[in-house]
Amino acid sequence: MQGLKRGGIAVIDFGSQTTQLIARRTRELGVYSAVFAHDAAPERIQRQQPAGYILSGGPSSVYEAGAPALPPFLLDSAAPILGICYGMQALAAASGGRVRPSHEREYGPATIRCESSSPLFDGLAVESPVWMSHGDRIAALPPGFAALASSDNSPFAAIGDLSSRRYGIQFHPEVQHSRDGRKLLSNFLFKVCGCERKWTAAAFIDDAIERIRVQVGDERVLLALSGGVDSAVTGALLHRAIGERLVCIFVDHGMLRQNEAEAVTRVFRDEQGMNLIAVNAVEAFLSALQGISDPEEKRKTIGKLFVDVFSEEARKQRGMRFLAQGTIYPDVIESAADSKAATTIKSHHNVGGLPADLRFELVEPLRDCFKDEVRRIGEALGLPAAIVWRQPFPGPGLAIRCLGALSWERLETLRAADAIFTSELAAAGLLRAGTAQSFAVLLPVKSVGVQGDKRSYEEVLALRSVTTDDFMTADWARLPLELLARVSARIVNEVAGINRVTYDITSKPPATIEWE
Ligand code: XMP
Repeated sequence: MQGLKRGGIAVIDFGSQTTQLIARRTRELGVYSAVFAHDAAPERIQRQQPAGYILSGGPSSVYEAGAPALPPFLLDSAAPILGICYGMQALAAASGGRVRPSHEREYGPATIRCESSSPLFDGLAVESPVWMSHGDRIAALPPGFAALASSDNSPFAAIGDLSSRRYGIQFHPEVQHSRDGRKLLSNFLFKVCGCERKWTAAAFIDDAIERIRVQVGDERVLLALSGGVDSAVTGALLHRAIGERLVCIFVDHGMLRQNEAEAVTRVFRDEQGMNLIAVNAVEAFLSALQGISDPEEKRKTIGKLFVDVFSEEARKQRGMRFLAQGTIYPDVIESAADSKAATTIKSHHNVGGLPADLRFELVEPLRDCFKDEVRRIGEALGLPAAIVWRQPFPGPGLAIRCLGALSWERLETLRAADAIFTSELAAAGLLRAGTAQSFAVLLPVKSVGVQGDKRSYEEVLALRSVTTDDFMTADWARLPLELLARVSARIVNEVAGINRVTYDITSKPPATIEWE
C-alpha cells in the first residue's frame, strides 16, 4: 500500500463541510489523497511522502484568537501547497500577508477573471464561474506572492508564489458549481506537484490482495455477508486473495426485500463460487419481534439476535483467527472537528459486541476507500451491478419500514409494494442515479376506499425517495408525476391489503430518511 499511497496528496482539514470532497476529487483524478486534521502529528502526515498539500476551507477567521493556524512544518516543506478559502488565508497569514474581514461577503456563485498566467490556471477560460463562501479576504499579499485571479468582491480571488509553488484560491474548486474546478485541481496535481495517475481500481485490487495474503498467511477468515456493497466487495476481494479459506456467513432475518436472500446465495455461492453458509433464522426473528412496535426496541431485538445467531455459527468454525469487516474511509476518517478522537472501528449492527470467547483480528481491506471507490472496485471484481449499485439498506431492514407491530403477512405486503416502486424507478433510470434512497413504508393506519363498487378498509403505504450526498441532510426527490401515478395504480391493483398510496414530501431535517 505504501507504494500506492506515496506521492499522493495530504489534505489538511480546517473543518470545512467539503474537505472529504477535496480528497474524493483528487482520487477521481487517479491520485491518492488522505485527510489529516490540521493539528495531526507532522510525522504521520509526512510518512506518506505527499507530493503536495491541499489546505481545506473552514469556519474560523484567521485573526480570531485560537483560530487554527497553518501547521508550521508546512512552511519548511519543499512540496507545493494549494490553500482553499480558509486554507488560503491561513497560508497567507503564516507567510507574512494580511487577512481582514470583508465588507462584502461572498456566498454562492461568482465569476473570476484570470489576471496572469500560471500552471494552476493553465488551459482555463479567462472568466469562469466559481462557488465562493467567505467573509474574510486578503488585504495584503505575502512577500513573493502575486494576484492570479480576481472577482468583483475579491481582488485576490487567487494568489500564487510560482517559485515556491504555493497557491491560494478564495473559491471552492471541489464543488460542482465551480465549472473548471476539476481542471484546476488536475493542474495542481499534475502540472504543479508532478503526481502520477496510479490510484486505480485495478492497482488497488492487486495491492489489496497482496496485503491480505501477507496479513492472513495460511489462516482462514470469517465474514458476515449482508448483501450490502461494503461487505460484498470485502468478500469478493478476500475470495480473490485466499479463495476457499474465506468463510462467509449470511443470516436471513426475514426483514430483507423481495428475492434478496435468494439473490445473495445465488450471486455469492453459485456465481462467485464463495464458501457461503446461509442461515435461515426467519422464524426466530419473527417470534422475537412479535408484539414489538417501538422502533428502538425493534433495532435492539434484531441486533442482539443477530449477534447470537452469528456467534453460534462462528463457534462452529473452530480455529478461526480473522474476521473481515467492510469498514470504509468515511468510517475512520479523522476530521478537524474531532481531531482528538481516536479513529474508530465501524460498529456494524451485525457484528457489534461479539461475546468475549470470540476474539478476532480484523481484516479491513477497504479502510482507505470512499464509497464510490468501493463500487468501482466491485465492478472491476466482476460483481453484478445490482449489488455494486445497491442503495443503502438499514441493518434492521424492513422491520423499521413496516411501522407498528410486525407480521409475516404485513412484511410480504410491504415487499410486494416496495418491489413495484423500485422496479419502476429502475426502469426510469432513477435507482442507480437520480435518487439516493427510495423505498416503501407500510403505515399502521387503515383508511376507507372503494374498490370494485365495494367499500374497503385497508392499510396506507407511503413512498419515500430522497436525494442526498451524505445522508446527514436530504431532500425529497422530485419524481415525475407520471411515474408516481403508475406506481400508485400498480400497487393498489396488484398488492392486496393496500388501498391508498402517499408520497412523502418532507426534507431531512426536520424528518429523517427512514420513518422509524
Ligand atoms: P435517517 O433515517 O437517520 O437515516 O435519516 C440515515 C441513513 O441511515 C440509515 N439507517 C440505518 N442503517 N441501521 C442501519 O444500518 C439502522 O438502524 C438505521 N437507521 C437508519 C438509513 O437507511 C439512511 O441511509
